[in-house]
Amino acid sequence: MSKEEEKKRTEESERTGLGPISRREFAASSVAILGTGAGANVIAAVSQPVSRAGAAAASTVALAASATAHTIKITVNKHKYELQVEPEWVLRDVLRDHLGLLSIKDMCNGYGACGSCTVIMNGRPVLSCMTFAADCDGAAIETAEGVAINKSQLIEAYVMNHCMQCGYCTPGFVVTAKALLDRIPRPTEEDIRDALGGNICRCGTYTQHIIAIKEVIGNA
Ligand code: FES
Ligand code: FES
Repeated sequence: MSKEEEKKRTEESERTGLGPISRREFAASSVAILGTGAGANVIAAVSQPVSRAGAAAASTVALAASATAHTIKITVNKHKYELQVEPEWVLRDVLRDHLGLLSIKDMCNGYGACGSCTVIMNGRPVLSCMTFAADCDGAAIETAEGVAINKSQLIEAYVMNHCMQCGYCTPGFVVTAKALLDRIPRPTEEDIRDALGGNICRCGTYTQHIIAIKEVIGNA
């Protein structure tokens, strides 16, 4: 490892508080890929980050998943996964910590009060902090990463209309807006305000979200 890489790793480890492993290694070590089948990524998620030495043995840790673990099959941003999840794990932690989908945020300590953890599940916006992963078997989930990969016009409108200041709340707004437009292609302002009612922005960018969504439907 070059000195430059070592420096970057030390800085990242200090920033994330994950000790001597990087955020990427943490995510990778928390997801042990056991094999593939029928186009699905077959994955067992483990509950604890493993050390750098332990990372090589991650599949062994995954195989030792607890007797209470449930196996679920989910599709996330069009990728299929088979996961082993503990009964108390919420969807937010599985998607964020184990699948590395860092757009999913937590502004209210998982009290279901801010909307920053919103994902689209089976076409409806849901709070992933209030949803047990074990209840998601068979679900199709879309996160802000999926919306961005598809180069949604919404993302462009959000950028052009400065919908974010700190940006912490923005992914939750984006997926809530995407779910609205999927459901109602030409929403009224009342529909937009109603749909975004559960999303909190501490910077107060509310009016910009409405402008951006109206722009997408050609009604700005
Ligand atoms: S983290 Fe605030 S509603 Fe889920
Ligand atoms: S842009 Fe900062 S919380 Fe919304």
